[in-house]
Amino acid sequence: MSIAKISKCSKPFGLECNTIAPDKSISHRCAMFSLLSDKPSYIKNFLLGEDTLASLSIAEQLGAIVDRDGGDITITPPKNLSEPDNILDCGNAGTGMRLYAGLLAGVEGSFILTGDRYLRSRPMRRVTDPLRNIGAKIDGRESGNLAPLAIRGGSLESFRYHSPIDSAQVKSALILAGLQADKKSYYKENLLSRDHTERMLNGMGAEIRLNSDGWIEIEPIKTPLKPLDITVPADPSSGFFFAVATAIVPSSKTTITNVSLNPTRIEAYRVLKEMGADIEFVQKENIYEPIGDIRIQYNGKLKAITVEKNIAWLIDELPALSIAMAVANGKSVVKNAEELRVKESDRISTVLKGLNLCSIETIEHPDGYEIIGGELNSATIDSYGDHRVSMSFAIAGLLCEMRVEDTACIETSFPNFFEILSEITEINLS
Ligand code: S3P
Repeated sequence: MSIAKISKCSKPFGLECNTIAPDKSISHRCAMFSLLSDKPSYIKNFLLGEDTLASLSIAEQLGAIVDRDGGDITITPPKNLSEPDNILDCGNAGTGMRLYAGLLAGVEGSFILTGDRYLRSRPMRRVTDPLRNIGAKIDGRESGNLAPLAIRGGSLESFRYHSPIDSAQVKSALILAGLQADKKSYYKENLLSRDHTERMLNGMGAEIRLNSDGWIEIEPIKTPLKPLDITVPADPSSGFFFAVATAIVPSSKTTITNVSLNPTRIEAYRVLKEMGADIEFVQKENIYEPIGDIRIQYNGKLKAITVEKNIAWLIDELPALSIAMAVANGKSVVKNAEELRVKESDRISTVLKGLNLCSIETIEHPDGYEIIGGELNSATIDSYGDHRVSMSFAIAGLLCEMRVEDTACIETSFPNFFEILSEITEINLS
């Protein structure tokens, strides 16, 4: 088992982070959306993490030719997607599985999507049900809820679907299906979830419009889309671990460069700012979405906070935010976050278990939790195979020595995480 021992950070740090992992959500979409064109897509700074490389391999299995020079990738799509001669392995990636389900539901052929043991236990009904309702033939364990998913692709009907959950994965799966449907489709969610799919596909020439009443209109595509030509920005969710590190280690400062400033992705930074950290956003360009730098500076002990709105905009950052809450003055509360229970682990349970081991008092609720701020004590933490839980407790180790077990999962999203962390403190990996 891979174990990391993180030493307490003995002095303030100043970090210029220009090697934060490339955005995972955008990288997945680059691999998939390039298949909707008839020309090569050029992608710079593709995330070489296990999750996104799995999506790229699937693109290859479907007939694309992939040329790789580090993170610079050319994807030449096939004329028609071909039926693969083996199962398609999404690894640990919910995004890979759910988006490919939507894409392949409309492609002639037989496809089996599978993943690791964690992904095979995550709910897929949220995409398989609405896809089946528009004519997709998909099956899996528990009547289509659990992978492996067997898809017999074919023609799809247009739809009008109001999703009960705010999920970019569900929305994107349905958009990809809608592009292949017979007529215009409509999709609605209660809170706009991350919108990379809409931005990227529109940039490729698709017509996906968000109306003032909240319904998204999806026009079927009649001809292949334009190819992608994109440099993937840094991932704000990965950068956030170092934002929390900076906000809890006195006198420290960090700049995260060339990171996505998409408003649906930086809510956790806003919350950390409200807790007292000094945070500034500097937009530099707009390519598919706003990109720039985030500057973070320690600004004294953090204040407790209640987080109950815009949950989809910070769902991935809640484990790291919980470390900030654990050392803040007072009781922090997280509500309306039941989605945390079906991420790479049940993150309400795994984060609270870890905090309790560090002597932090918590109260668990079905849809959230309360954290009573205190002092973190050294502990041995099980990550339960969840990359964001691993990285969150590694950051907590900056305030007290921490042993984090099962850290190999960090490879899924942030392969150079420990390299950056080792600029701040001593780490022992075994
Ligand atoms: C993602 C969407 C989010 C997020 C996941 C990546 C995406 O999931 O948690 O890490 O790339 O679309 P949901 O949309 O299911 O909440």
